[in-house]
Amino acid sequence: MKVLLSEDELRDGVKRMADEINAQLENKTLTVIAVMTGSLVLVADLIRYLSMPVQLGALLASSYRGETTRGDLEIDHAMLPDLTDERVLVVDDIFDTGHTLDNVMQRLKQLGPSEIHSAVLLQKSDCQQVQMKPDFIGFEIPDEFVVGYGLDYKNLFRNLPYVAAMESHDLTAFE
Ligand code: IMP
Ligand code: MG
Repeated sequence: MKVLLSEDELRDGVKRMADEINAQLENKTLTVIAVMTGSLVLVADLIRYLSMPVQLGALLASSYRGETTRGDLEIDHAMLPDLTDERVLVVDDIFDTGHTLDNVMQRLKQLGPSEIHSAVLLQKSDCQQVQMKPDFIGFEIPDEFVVGYGLDYKNLFRNLPYVAAMESHDLTAFE
């Protein structure tokens, strides 16, 4: 694996993103929704830099891409608080094609929040296939498969404290 973002770089990037969120969404209560499981580490770090009162919730989004048609995103609401009239910030790990976050945002808008914003740790350059763009972005990265800091390959490597690109020999080793 090749380290793309070190622990120090991640800390600085998350802090920078929190500063932007604090400046734009100051004062009023913010409901932060973690898109599980990839955003778990980011959310844990990010919310500790936020200065407004934070209410925390989570949702699990499973897509069945490849098996059925795109857009069949199933959202588990079990850990979602009531979003009616709330100011919401949806946090995901990575914006690749953008279909997942676009879908999640559209679905949550139907739950009546007063405002809805989005933040992602990573955006892959030139991969976007949707109109929406996240409001807050930690880092732009090249189009490589990355793991660590919450991101997984076959549910492994979420615990790495850095973000690394998987190389072809890593991929074959875990097949
Ligand atoms: P999108 O719908 O194409 O934007 O993909 C977003 C989802 O795919 C993310 O929430 C991740 O779970 C997963 N994903 C996309 N690229 C990567 C990657 O490089 N490493 C790990 N997961 C990824
Ligand atoms: Mg994900």
